[in-house]
This record gives sequence, structure tokens and C-alpha cells, in this order.
Amino acid sequence: MEEQKKKVILSGIQPTGVFTLGNYLGAVRNWAQMQEDFHSAYMIADLHALTVRQEPADFRKRILSCYALLLACGVDPDKSVVFIQSHVPAHSQLGWVLACNTQFGELSRMTQFKDKAAQHADNINAGLFTYPSLMAADILLYQADLVPVGVDQKQHLELTRDVASRFNGIYGQTFTLPEPYIAKEAKIMSLADPTKKMSKSDPNPNGCITILDEPGAIVKKFKRAVTDSEMEVCYREGKDGINNLMTIYAAVTGLTMEQIAADFAGKGYGDFKAAVGEAVAEHLRPVRERYADLMNNKDYLTECYRKGAEQAANISRRTMEKVYKKVGLLAK
Ligand code: TYM
Repeated sequence: MEEQKKKVILSGIQPTGVFTLGNYLGAVRNWAQMQEDFHSAYMIADLHALTVRQEPADFRKRILSCYALLLACGVDPDKSVVFIQSHVPAHSQLGWVLACNTQFGELSRMTQFKDKAAQHADNINAGLFTYPSLMAADILLYQADLVPVGVDQKQHLELTRDVASRFNGIYGQTFTLPEPYIAKEAKIMSLADPTKKMSKSDPNPNGCITILDEPGAIVKKFKRAVTDSEMEVCYREGKDGINNLMTIYAAVTGLTMEQIAADFAGKGYGDFKAAVGEAVAEHLRPVRERYADLMNNKDYLTECYRKGAEQAANISRRTMEKVYKKVGLLAK
């Protein structure tokens, strides 16, 4: 029987700090699982992070440590292409061509642009605005079928599809149209304000768990998590805090919502919050240990990201040559 062609996936994460529990459950953990069944490419989106001003020496260190975090989360450079965006020139090259094929009106509608422009009112730069064209380039270069992301990136994916199908319509079939692949844990909420997404920039440090937090700190933050004035551990509309905690607990234990509700029936929120905190701390222990080992082995990390860059350059070059030809640039 003919083997079915494996689908291609690509995703990325910005090196803006240690990954949050949201990044991990909403995206990176699934990348590690998906690499078994797909041709997968994962990248540290360092060029994207330049849309916000970075302190150069600190940024350089963070890019490496985020690369190590990807591996610590189970992304395997022997199974996936794992690279750093700026090491592969085709991303900037296609980003420009796609920026010339994306409309001002389309970019103006992006909610991430509006949010970030409000957060960084002193630095609303052109890169922040054209960010989605570069993200479209990341995806389309690899002819990705699926893009595993959290729900906040869905709008960028829709724009990517619009730009790709417009380009295909004008220049002939060039790009595969990618589908978003949104996990069950697509939106992990802040522990301090469960109506807001968990994010590194949470003004309340208790709202955000990072995957390198010490077990004691994790348990403490969960104990302080905002819930509601009822006394029932059950997944129901209006119980944002408890719903979030149940989603996290289910994700790290494999239990269903019904099992969780049954296990904590008649118990107080205090017991439940402590259990979630302990389960998360235990789940992240091996990630933390692997990360420490990797950071002690910089030669191995360098070898991995160089290999990843070479593999990614080979794949993306093919698309790039096709695009330059289609839009009518003169070959060298
Ligand atoms: P970034 O770096 O903000 O986040 C990386 C991934 O984590 C997901 N995520 C969450 N999921 C669930 N709950 C949360 N609280 C949460 N917070 C973050 C994000 O949805 C994302 O999947 N633009 C992208 C990076 C990027 C990219 C790409 C992604 C650049 N090029 C190409 C896919 C394909 C970003 O800023 O993700």
C-alpha cells in the first residue's frame, strides 16, 4: 500500500522570556507530540521579537536559552528541523515580498498590533505593523499544511491564508494554504485575572507561571489563584478561574473534567488549588532538569541550531527561488 504523504507543520515562538505555562500547554508541548507524525519545523522567532526594543547582550543570551527550552520541552532536533529564524535569510526575503502583497487595511485590523501598539505607545514601529507578513513568510516558505498555535495567533493564520491565496491567484500556484491547529489548551488564562490570557507581561507576577519556576513558587502562585465565591469544582460557564485551573490540571494529569469534579466533590478550593500546583510543579520537573543539562552543554546547542539552520535554508530556498521567479525578478 502506498504510504500516505506526511503533512508538514511549522510553528514558532518569540524569545521574549522564559516560556509560560500558556506557551507550553497551548503550543510547545504539542509540537513535541506532533513531530512523531509530521514533517515538522520549529523556530525561535527572534526577528519578530525585534519589534519590541531589546537589550542586545541580554537578547543574545535569551535566544540561546529559548532554543534550549524548546529542546527541554521535548522538541527533538533529530526528528524536527529546529532553528533560529534570523539564521535563515529566506524569512526576511519572503517577508518583504509578502509585505508588498498585504494591504494596509488588513494589517490595521490585527488585534495583536492594536494591543502591542497600546502597550508600547512610544515605539509603534513599521515592523510591529508588518509583523503578520513576516509570520506568513515563516509559514509559507515551508509549504506548511498545519500550524499548531494558541488561539491568539488565529487571526494571523487567517491573514496568512488570505495573502497566500491572493498570491496564488495572481502568480499561479505557489503556496500551500495552511490550517491552524488549535490545542484544547488554546488559551490558558492568568491566575490573577482569569479573564485575561496568561502572559509574560502580566502586571501581577502571581498571574503567570513560567516553565522554569521553582516548585515552591508554582505551588504558592496556584494557592493565590483567583477563583469565585462558590464552593464547587466543576467546569461551567461563568467560573473562569476554576475552568482555567481544571483545564491546566486535566492537561498535566490526563484526567477528564468529570473525573476532576468527582475527585474534588465536597472539598474546598484550597485543596484543589494545592493539588493543581503540585501536579504542575511535578510535571515541569523533568523540563527544568533537561534545561539545566542543556545549558551546561553549549557546544551541543550550537551544533543543533547550525544543523537546523542548514536544513531550514535548504527547504526554504526552493520556495524563495520560485517566488522571485514568479514575481519577475531577474535571476543571478
Ligand atoms: P508567542 O511567542 O507569543 O507564543 C508562542 C505560542 O504560545 C501560544 N500561547 C498561548 N497558548 C495558550 N495560552 C496562552 N496563555 C498562550 N500564550 C501564548 C501562542 O498562541 C503561540 O502559539 N507570532 C507568534 C510567533 C510566530 C509564529 C510564526 C507562530 C512567529 N512566526 C509562524 C506560528 C507560525 C507569537 O508571537 O507567539
